[in-house]
Amino acid sequence: MKILVINGVNLNMLGVREPDLYGKKDYKSLVREIKAHAKEIGVKVTCVQSNCEGRLVTYIQRALGRYDGIVINPGAYTHTSVALLDALKAVSIPTVEVHLTDVDSREEYRKISYVSEYAFLRVTGKGFAGYLEAMDAIKERTK
Ligand code: DQA
Repeated sequence: MKILVINGVNLNMLGVREPDLYGKKDYKSLVREIKAHAKEIGVKVTCVQSNCEGRLVTYIQRALGRYDGIVINPGAYTHTSVALLDALKAVSIPTVEVHLTDVDSREEYRKISYVSEYAFLRVTGKGFAGYLEAMDAIKERTK
């Protein structure tokens, strides 16, 4: 089983950006934890990050026929991007949406998520552990 973990805009700034909200650990640590967990549960994982919406769409499109599941934290594109939603619908790969913070208890504009319309599960407010839970959920669903 192969899972693609996609991180969107500003997630490369983890550890630096608003540490009170997003924590002190950086993106590299996140990737390390995801890879260690993948090993533990016996799945293959690829992690990608981009600040460009179009590149994120391309990552989703290229996952077709290559990955059994997608874990995605689109960052702020969560709240704006119909393009990411359309791409997920196009490839029809089981997807879990992850947010480090509890987006529903933050600003009004963060309560909208286009990706949610497609994702079979949404994990919010659990920090890095949310990504691991998302991987478990994909493994459980697609076995
Ligand atoms: C985020 C929440 C978004 O609202 C924000 O724009 C991010 C990170 C999260 O992981 O909590 O960049 O997706």
